[in-house]
Amino acid sequence: MNDFERRARACQERLEAVDADAAVLFPSPNLYYASGFHEEPAERHLFLFVPETGDPVFLVPKLYASQIRDESWVSDVRTWADGDDPVEAVKTIADDLDLAGGHLLVDDTMWARFTQDLEAALPDATFGLASEVFDDLRLRKDDTELDALRRAAEVSDQASEEIRKLGGAAVGLTERELAEEIESTLAGAGGGGLAFDVIVGSGPNGAKPHHSHGDREIQRGDPVVLDFGAFVDHYPGDQTRTVVFAGDPPEGFEEVHRVVLEALEAGVAAVEPGVEAQAVDRATRRVIEDAGYGDEFIHRTGHGVGLEVHEPPYIVEGNDQVLEPGMVFSVEPGIYLDGRFGVRIEDLVVVTDDGCERLNHSPRTWESL
Ligand code: GLY
Ligand code: MN
Ligand code: MN
Repeated sequence: MNDFERRARACQERLEAVDADAAVLFPSPNLYYASGFHEEPAERHLFLFVPETGDPVFLVPKLYASQIRDESWVSDVRTWADGDDPVEAVKTIADDLDLAGGHLLVDDTMWARFTQDLEAALPDATFGLASEVFDDLRLRKDDTELDALRRAAEVSDQASEEIRKLGGAAVGLTERELAEEIESTLAGAGGGGLAFDVIVGSGPNGAKPHHSHGDREIQRGDPVVLDFGAFVDHYPGDQTRTVVFAGDPPEGFEEVHRVVLEALEAGVAAVEPGVEAQAVDRATRRVIEDAGYGDEFIHRTGHGVGLEVHEPPYIVEGNDQVLEPGMVFSVEPGIYLDGRFGVRIEDLVVVTDDGCERLNHSPRTWESL
């Protein structure tokens, strides 16, 4: 049994536990997780029906059939051709799997027009969200997933070290030019596409946590927030360092960087099985509040990372989810001084049996070399 079949079988156990009759998936991380077939959503009907018992069934546009047979363990692949009505095929599959009056969990990211077609085809069925089963399954990463996440983190680390070495050569580049350099460095290190738009927040732009990059030129003394990651085997990296490429940083920067680094270390030290996610948020926040910057830490401490770069568990006050071995998430405290500069430092961690494994190891200091 391969990883994908094992995960689909686990999904079936969860379906039984929540009293649902099937999950109906659409091109998404859930569909890849259960089948091994990876595709972006598009305009043609493409569903994977995972019934509570028995074998899953794909309904796919004919042009995908051969690809899916190669990539997925699922052997029941039914096709429809351009010009056919795929909704008729949905009704046939629902009859075959005895789902017409069942409770179906549809992919959370399924486009509304496909959900509407399912509802119209199966007027006696009731519908919920597939996250009811998949969130819990995907929270704890298996060995294959951890291996991919470790390799993605290595790609971030390698790119981070190379970009830091630019030193004074980064001065005069626009944020966009540096972002392009980071993208090609990630690719050179083995990354398979960006996990999200590269963030290069120079000077005052660093105080906007999700500023991506623009036309501002990097100046001597600018703190620059560098946040990036690339996919490896469909799993992303996500790492942040704040660097001054050349010159003296602005007044107050060194203290802010020291506080954020201390908060990161406190957060990582708080990670162990049995503690609540919010305890990690409290650990980073306490350091920043004690230093007098509580109002400038304007986001949660972190987020789970898996097939999606932002997924549960969210490391935030109010989340009493108990941490378990195999969970992977970011610890990314930041201080943002509006109009001046920002500092964020971010590492990914895996919860282990007795604490955590850090996935990122590149230097966390602000000095360029
Ligand atoms: N790139 C945004 C984040 O670190 O979550
Ligand atoms: Mn990030
Ligand atoms: Mn992050």
